[in-house]
This record gives sequence, C-alpha cells and structure tokens, in this order.
Amino acid sequence: MSYLIAVSGKGGVGKTTISSLIVRQLVANGMTPVLAIDADPNSCLDAALGVKVEKTVGGAREEVRQESQNGLTGVSKQEMLQLKISESLVEAHGFDLIAMGRPEGAGCYCYANNVLKSVIAQISGQYPYVVLDNEAGLENLSRRIVQKVDMLVLVADPSNSGMETLKRLYTLANEMEIKYDRLLLIVNRLRSGSILDRIDEIKAFTKADDVIVLEDDAEIASFAEKSENFLQLPDTNKTLKKINELILTIKTKLA
Ligand SMILES: Nc1ncnc2c1ncn2[C@@H]1O[C@H](COP(=O)(O)OP(=O)(O)OP(=O)(O)O)[C@@H](O)[C@H]1O
Ligand SMILES: [Mg+2]
Repeated sequence: MSYLIAVSGKGGVGKTTISSLIVRQLVANGMTPVLAIDADPNSCLDAALGVKVEKTVGGAREEVRQESQNGLTGVSKQEMLQLKISESLVEAHGFDLIAMGRPEGAGCYCYANNVLKSVIAQISGQYPYVVLDNEAGLENLSRRIVQKVDMLVLVADPSNSGMETLKRLYTLANEMEIKYDRLLLIVNRLRSGSILDRIDEIKAFTKADDVIVLEDDAEIASFAEKSENFLQLPDTNKTLKKINELILTIKTKLA
C-alpha cells in the first residue's frame, strides 16, 4: 500500500515547488522509490525535479483511442493502455515521474477514464510513497483519479483571501466527499507576520492536523530564475529544512 500525498490549492501559490521539495526529501530520507504524479497539464513538475517528460498519460490514452478506431487486434485496450502508460514513466534517481497531460472532461465516468484510474492505481501500488501535484482547485481529486489520499496538503498565500480560500477548499473537499486521513495546511511565502493571527481560526475551521508556515524565500525565488531544478537547491535552504521536518514526521508515524 502506498502513502499518497496530494498537494492542492489556488493557482500560483507554490504547489509545484512544494511538491518537488517533498519528493526530494522523501528520496533524501530513503523513503524510496517515490512516484511523482504531475496532474496539472500546464505545470512543470518535471523541470522542478530536473527531468523531462516526453509522453503523458493523456497522450497514451489518445493513442490507444485512435489505434482502437483503426481496429486494434490481439491485445486488449487495457493492456495496450497499460503498456503505453508505462512507457510514459520517467525514471530518475530514487523517484519516477508520470505526467497526466490533458484530462478527460470533469465528472467523466466513461470507460477510458475508469481504465485509466485502474492503471494508475496499479502503477501507484508499486511505490511506497506517491506525491500528486494537482492543478489549481480540487478537480483532479473530484475526478477520483486516486482512491484515497493519506495526506491532503492545501497551500495558500499569506493573505486574508488566502485564508478564506483554505476554508472554501476544505468545505469543497468535504462536499465532494474527497477522502483523506490527514490534512496539512501550508501558508506559503510569508512576508509580514500579520496573517499569523488567523492561523488558529483556520486550523480550527478546517480541523487540520498541522499548519506549516513557509517564508517568502529569496533563495528559492532566485533559484527558480536561474534553474528550475529544485534538486540542486542546497541542503541548508530554510524552506527545504521545514519540508524535511514534515517528511520526518511521516517517517516516524509510519515506522
Ligand atoms: N516559499 C517561496 N519563496 C519564494 N518563492 C516561491 C516560494 N514558493 C513558490 N515560489 C515561487 O512562486 C511561483 C509559483 O510557484 P509554483 O509554480 O510552485 O506554484 P503553483 O501553485 O504550482 O502554480 P500553478 O497553479 O501555476 O501550477 C514560482 O515562481 C516559485 O518559484
Ligand atoms: Mg504547479
């Protein structure tokens, strides 16, 4: 059984950056192999992890659809899809990455989507840890591309509207009956401390297990400008250290 960490939040709040740091520290703590799933068609988790995605799951699904229209013989659609999806896995040191690409329509429970989910479930099962970098909002989770989330991470900017978004996402997740064991809130890019006054209120409202506050990190910002590969960020980076503490709590809990 894998432990699945799903990172969600509004656009541009730092989901991909945080996902890549989580993957990095899982690997650094020997919690391998990790499966990183890039579930945002417009995102670049691959660049943040220093690898390059050539094929996506959406592309594989499309290829199978076209080939079956041309009269697929011998192998079943599911086997073909499984094969093509495994071809789109990018292998790296301690982790593999798979990109979902373009999604099927929201709320689509068609055959292809169901097959896709079972293939993803099968692939994920081979990894002790899976990290899912989502597109903005909760669409992916509502589409049930994964069955169960062990840790739902909701990221927000340090503003009053960011705090309201956290409440809204929490309410939405419950309305959509998204199942998770633990809820972690991350307030990212803190500049002044004033929003800290609201943390207790937001934590109580969302019944979150933990809240992590990450500062606006000049090293991350300048690093992102030069190279997007956060695997090269020095171990001394303060944001990385906080993410490492989080990973150690997971490691201890599961030990
Ligand atoms: N703690 C931080 N300190 C400084 N810069 C940060 C921090 N976290 C993220 N950033 C920067 O903020 C920008 C947005 O981050 P990121 O791409 O991770 O957000 P996202 O939520 O994945 O966005 P999208 O919704 O577009 O996928 C990037 O330029 C990133 O380098
Ligand atoms: Mg992103």
